[in-house]
Amino acid sequence: MTWNDITRNLPAYPMEELARIRSDLLAKGMTVYDFGTGDPQIPTWQPIKDSLSAAIPEVSQYPSIRGTAEIREAIWGYLKRHYQLTPEDGLDILTSNGSKEAVFHTALCAMGRKGKKTIAYPNPGYPVYRSSILFAQGRPYPIELEQKDHYLIKPWEMPKDIQSDCAALWINYPHNPTGATVTKENLEKIINWCQEKDVLLLSDDCYADIYHSSWDSKGLRPEHPLSISTKNCLSFMSLSKRSGLTGYRTGFIVGDADLMKGLARARANFGVGTPTQTQKAAATAWHDETHVAARRQQFSERIDLAYRYLNELDLIADKPQAGFYLWCRLPAGDDDVNFCLDLAKQGVIASPSQWLSEGIKGYVRFALVPTLPNTEKAMQILQKFVNARYPTKGDKTS
Ligand SMILES: Cc1ncc(COP(=O)(O)O)c(C=O)c1O
Repeated sequence: MTWNDITRNLPAYPMEELARIRSDLLAKGMTVYDFGTGDPQIPTWQPIKDSLSAAIPEVSQYPSIRGTAEIREAIWGYLKRHYQLTPEDGLDILTSNGSKEAVFHTALCAMGRKGKKTIAYPNPGYPVYRSSILFAQGRPYPIELEQKDHYLIKPWEMPKDIQSDCAALWINYPHNPTGATVTKENLEKIINWCQEKDVLLLSDDCYADIYHSSWDSKGLRPEHPLSISTKNCLSFMSLSKRSGLTGYRTGFIVGDADLMKGLARARANFGVGTPTQTQKAAATAWHDETHVAARRQQFSERIDLAYRYLNELDLIADKPQAGFYLWCRLPAGDDDVNFCLDLAKQGVIASPSQWLSEGIKGYVRFALVPTLPNTEKAMQILQKFVNARYPTKGDKTS
C-alpha cells in the first residue's frame, strides 16, 4: 500500500530542510543566525492580540467561507484606502486561511478551464505554485525570471502550444525571492497578454505592503493588477507579512465577482472557513496602517545594513525596494547548496537557489528575519567566510 506518484515524488519542502539544519546546529550548542524561512519574529501588535483573545466565543460554530460582516468591511476599507477598489468595480472578496492554502486550492478550480491544463508561474518562486498544479493533475510551466530583465515574467515568450494550453498564470510582485517589483507598463503588458489568450491572472500579493520605508514619504506603493483591470484577475493577500501573523493563518482573495462566485462554491468544500476569533483579529489588522509602517521601517533598516555588507562583498548589485529578502549571486563556479551548507557550519543559515527554484543555480537568499544587531553579527561572520572562500575577487560572471 502506498500513496500516489505525485505524493511519493514530492521533494522535501525546503523550509523543513532548513528547520532540520537549524535544529542540528542548536543541538551542537551553536549560536544560530537564521536567514532561512521568511518568518520574521517581530512581536504581534498588541491590539491584534487583544482582539483575538476578546473574541473567543462562548459557543463555537462553523465559520462562513465569505467572512463576517466585520472582516469584510475591514478588507473593503483596506482595498479602498490602498487601491481605490470597491464592490462597484465588479469585485468580490473571500477570506482565506493565509495565501498558502488559497494558492493550493485555486489550482483545483483553474485546472481544465476551457480544456486547458497548463498553469505557468515564476521560477524562482514560491514552491506551492508547482505542487498545487501537480496535485490538480495539470502541467506546471515554470517561467525563468532573469536578472537582466529585472525579473519580469514574460509569458509571451513561452512556446506557442503552451500559451494556447495556459489556463492560468501566477505572478508575484513584490517577488519572493528577488524582491523585484513590476512597473505599471509591464503589468499592463502581462494583463493584456492574459486577456488576449483568455488566461486567468492569479496575482500572489502577499508582499504588497512590504516595501522600502522611504517610499512612505513619497506616497509610493507597489503596482497592483486590480488597479489596472479587474477582468479575469484574482489577487491573493495575506496578513502573514503585512502584520507578521504567520501563525494566525489569515488573508483574503479579491477579484472578478463572477469568478469569485465559483470559487466560493468550491471553497465551501475545502474546509477553509477562517475561525471567527481569527477574523476579529484580522479585522483589527486590516483597519490599521501604523503597525505596518513600523514593520516596514524595521525591514528597511535590516535591508540597508545587510545590503551594505553584501554589496561590499560583491554578492549583490541593486538594493531591493520591496520584500524582505536579499537575492545574492555567487561567484561563477560556486555551488549554492555547498555554499549554504558550509556557511551553516559557521551558524548562519540561508537558502540556496536550488531549493527555491527549478534548476536555478548559483544564488542564495537571505530572509531578513534576525534582529538588526543579530543581522550585523551574522554579516560579520559572512564577511570572514566569503573572504576566506574567495581569496581572489573580480571573477564573477556577468
Ligand atoms: C510568495 C509567497 N506566496 C505565498 C506565501 C504564503 O503565505 P501565507 O503565510 O499567507 O500562507 C508565501 C510565504 O512565504 C510567499 O513567500
